[in-house]
Amino acid sequence: MPILEAVFDQERIQAEIKRVAGEISSDYKGRELALVGVLKGAFIFLADLVRNLTIPAYVDFVRVSSYGDGTQPSGNIRLSQDVTLDLDGKDVLLVEDIVDTGHTMAFLLSHFSGRNAASVACCALVDKTGRRSRGVDLKYSCLSVAGGFLVGCGLDYAEKHRGLPGIYSLKP
Ligand code: IMP
Ligand code: MG
Repeated sequence: MPILEAVFDQERIQAEIKRVAGEISSDYKGRELALVGVLKGAFIFLADLVRNLTIPAYVDFVRVSSYGDGTQPSGNIRLSQDVTLDLDGKDVLLVEDIVDTGHTMAFLLSHFSGRNAASVACCALVDKTGRRSRGVDLKYSCLSVAGGFLVGCGLDYAEKHRGLPGIYSLKP
């Protein structure tokens, strides 16, 4: 049985989300902000983020497949569900649970920069810095770790542990 080791508690996570929501609210004031969550992992972070914004925001989701059920990145990314929102003239903020190698974000940034959006940027609950192999300009991140495999707050291992309110590292 893998062991879960606490990394960030609920209080810390909520404080960091509130901080980032404040930055986004001031940066995008007077703009047409569209939050685009990356399913499934971002559903909890996006829900927390949007409730902490002080400006209005559109919400939509995309779905990509990248990891399968394992803990190793495949680098093989496919868009399996696109947004239905009209992004013309909107400022798109991609909302991810975690950025690891950067392949998923690089893929999504290039996908959305081909639209007529006013701007495209990204935001992640966790910036996992140790294995970055694609240069991704992560405009906002709440928490940062060097490595490890994290679960909780939307993050899963083989579809488990998404509902944990804290973030844990999975120890084999
Ligand atoms: P990247 O393309 O390597 O940056 O990987 C990004 C995706 O891999 C994220 O959207 C997650 O779904 C998944 N992922 C990367 N690291 C973790 C982790 O520590 N826990 C859970 N999922 C992860
Ligand atoms: Mg994900």
